Amino acid sequence: MKQWQIVEWAKLAESDFSPGAPAEGQVRLKMRAVSLNYRDHLMMLGQYNPKQPLPLVPCSDGAGEVVEVGPGVTRWKVGDRVCPIFSQSWVGGPPSKERISQTLGGPLDGTLRPEMVVDQQSLVAVPAHLDWEEAACLPCAAVTAWNAISDQPAGSRIVVQGTGGVSLFALQLAKAAGLEVLLTSSSNEKIERARALGADHCVNYRETPEWSRAVRAWARDGVDCVVEVGGAGTLEQSLRCLKPGGKIAMIGILAGAAKPLNVLPILMQQLRVQGVLVGNRDDFEAMNRVLARAQIRPVLDQRLPYSQAPQAWERLASGQHFGKVAISGCW
Ligand SMILES: NC(=O)c1ccc[n+]([C@@H]2O[C@H](COP(=O)([O-])OP(=O)(O)OC[C@H]3O[C@@H](n4cnc5c(N)ncnc54)[C@H](OP(=O)(O)O)[C@@H]3O)[C@@H](O)[C@H]2O)c1
Repeated sequence: MKQWQIVEWAKLAESDFSPGAPAEGQVRLKMRAVSLNYRDHLMMLGQYNPKQPLPLVPCSDGAGEVVEVGPGVTRWKVGDRVCPIFSQSWVGGPPSKERISQTLGGPLDGTLRPEMVVDQQSLVAVPAHLDWEEAACLPCAAVTAWNAISDQPAGSRIVVQGTGGVSLFALQLAKAAGLEVLLTSSSNEKIERARALGADHCVNYRETPEWSRAVRAWARDGVDCVVEVGGAGTLEQSLRCLKPGGKIAMIGILAGAAKPLNVLPILMQQLRVQGVLVGNRDDFEAMNRVLARAQIRPVLDQRLPYSQAPQAWERLASGQHFGKVAISGCW
């Protein structure tokens, strides 16, 4: 059996893998599928955490089958379908330094390996309607989207930026909750696909750099929430979209992490800028109930075989993907 490791920055290589036995309270998983997040792209380049020791098994997201349970395990049995949670120690409650520091795919070894041994508390059950690759998309991207928008009541209007993993989950969850969604994209072809998923209005941010004007034409009084995956490079436009009291769900840095900003609109309109760091196990389970009730299936751009893991990174880096890039298990 082989596992994939980042052996030096920008270099993924296969290495021998030795399966471990579960200790007290742990289970052993056969990993059935993995999915990529933009974070994994940054991690590969050494830009997420340049101090991360290597080698590292990449990827936070995956789904697997319980193949062995250790002594004292009560939550799972052999054959259960599960996803490891992103922050392995964050089961519930507010974030703390300890709870948010033990994340898969850096600093902890991640999911791109044949098997994992995981604490029984650090897993959630896979919704029954999802296959392995679909389930592997949930732990980071979907939970993040859920925490960005799940406080919005039906009828709220939101902006979703782009057509990557987080954004399409936000679109799907928002439509299931009765929200109205304006989606931005750099591609008119992707815009048509987003409309088919339920986007109420779409704007090409390349053709319309001042896209907040188009948002204001759609929602004259402003929107309730922006799912901010662009970061510093899009924040000024996003702030212009909000109604007084509206919220920026600050998630990503696709358009940069730092830029001078006029903060006056934030205080003059009592806007809220709320950071989102994925979420905890309780959030994941609450989201899964909604996915099951609404029969939401993740949007998969590609399902690549395990042997083609490097191509999955190339696909994500190309920016051509629509939704999630998944890698199937390794047997
Ligand atoms: N804070 C957290 O907990 C958390 C969790 C997950 C992800 N993130 C962050 O959120 C961001 C998105 O992650 P992801 O995994 O969803 O990425 P992804 O799947 O790679 O999505 C990339 C897509 O975003 C769109 N995009 C790129 N630059 C843009 C810009 N300047 N303005 C608007 N849209 C732009 C593009 O869509 P089009 O091709 O349609 O233009 C692109 O295809 C990343 O920065 C990631 O690190 C944070």
